[in-house]
Amino acid sequence: MKPRDYTQILAELRSAYAARAPKSAALNERAQRVQVDGGSHALRLMQPFPPRIAAASGAWVTDEDGHRILDFWQGHLANILGHNPEVVTTALSQAFADGSGLQTGFTERYQVEVAELLCERTGAERVRFTTSGTLSTMYAILLARAFTGRDEVLKVGGGWHGAQPWALKGIGFHREQGYQHIETAGLPPAVCEEVVVMRFNDPQMLRDHFRKYGDRIACFIVEPFMGAGGYMPATRDYLQTARELATQYGAVLIFDEVIAGFRFRAGNTGALYGVQPDLATFGKIIGGGMPVAAVTGRADIMNLAGRPGGSRVKFSGGTYSGHPASMLASRTMLRYLVEHEAEIYPRLAALGDRIRRLLEDVFAQEGFYARCTGWGNDALPGSSIFMLHFPYQEGHPLDAPDDVFNPAVCDVTLNGDVLQLALLLEDVHMMHAHGAASTAHTETDLDFLEVACRNVARRLKQL
Ligand SMILES: Cc1ncc(COP(=O)(O)O)c(C=O)c1O
Repeated sequence: MKPRDYTQILAELRSAYAARAPKSAALNERAQRVQVDGGSHALRLMQPFPPRIAAASGAWVTDEDGHRILDFWQGHLANILGHNPEVVTTALSQAFADGSGLQTGFTERYQVEVAELLCERTGAERVRFTTSGTLSTMYAILLARAFTGRDEVLKVGGGWHGAQPWALKGIGFHREQGYQHIETAGLPPAVCEEVVVMRFNDPQMLRDHFRKYGDRIACFIVEPFMGAGGYMPATRDYLQTARELATQYGAVLIFDEVIAGFRFRAGNTGALYGVQPDLATFGKIIGGGMPVAAVTGRADIMNLAGRPGGSRVKFSGGTYSGHPASMLASRTMLRYLVEHEAEIYPRLAALGDRIRRLLEDVFAQEGFYARCTGWGNDALPGSSIFMLHFPYQEGHPLDAPDDVFNPAVCDVTLNGDVLQLALLLEDVHMMHAHGAASTAHTETDLDFLEVACRNVARRLKQL
């Protein structure tokens, strides 16, 4: 395939989309008057406007205009059991009916129970809760810097750990700079220098960097399964090398499992690699649909945030941290996943396999060379996650973020804005050609997806 100009195609898709969604359009107009860009999470603010969701259940959402849309974004990958799963809504309804659930400003038993579950299922010794994955990675890095007394933070290019100071370098791919650039105005210059960007799945680059600068490195933060950076698992060698180097040089290894945690098993993903990090961060799935995140890890590091350690790390506030309804949802979700682990994860992997195959095959049959990332590997037996790409050259490896987000390698407009809009016109929602199966998706849903993809491919050929 060759690079293509999508200006006209996008204009046609946008106009068809706008024509079918007047209520979402009207809400968007109101939103534009009072919210920056009309909403609070940039990823969700597509052009010409996002569908405004009125109801969500299982695999499907319904927008304000009454379209039932098959959803693979699933709560920004939080909803592993689908939207509003009964097991969680029943527990919450019961609590509200009993007159509990909203903020108390005390600590309830749920917190203890969720922390116990997290320790059991992730090998952590201590847990502290917060309300977003972003805060959890910020606190984990703060802990690592305090523990080591060092400044340098290693992350990988394409790695998204939320918008916090030490994570705002090397997220989006730039044609000239690759991942060696700062993502925001307003950062203290020292922070920009302290963050060093490595290439994902490149153990040699890590070795070289540690050999030269090992005594400066506070931590290496990495996702065992790369999320926003392209939906690709770390290789076993990469994580094992990271573990060995961090131990050898006294740096803290942080696994950001905000996406990966409880996605591939009822516990941490590091365990599938046989690699225990010093700290790990969790979010999304563990909240059961509520805003819960956690930093977990070694007691000697985590205790720096505690009173006996002298509160050296001010990871101690958060009005809504450990919120009762959130913790109840979390406990319910984690218990459910643990109890049903043997059925849930193989089923999710099978759905993921079918989706990835289906996407590649349908587009290939219609003349588009398409490849998915999101497959498992020798450590990660199966995966419910997928991202579709359109590489220009057949056989190009898609092992790292710079492979899939480099516009010279893959058609990033096609799998970005174009596909998202074209699929919505077929009542299917993915975020820029990526998403995940939930247990609520059925084979019939995937048949629906297949027809939708075929229609999209044919439409794009004609435009
Ligand atoms: C790997 C990873 N870490 C951290 C975050 C930030 O989490 P939150 O959006 O809950 O702040 C995200 C969000 O998508 C993520 O994917």
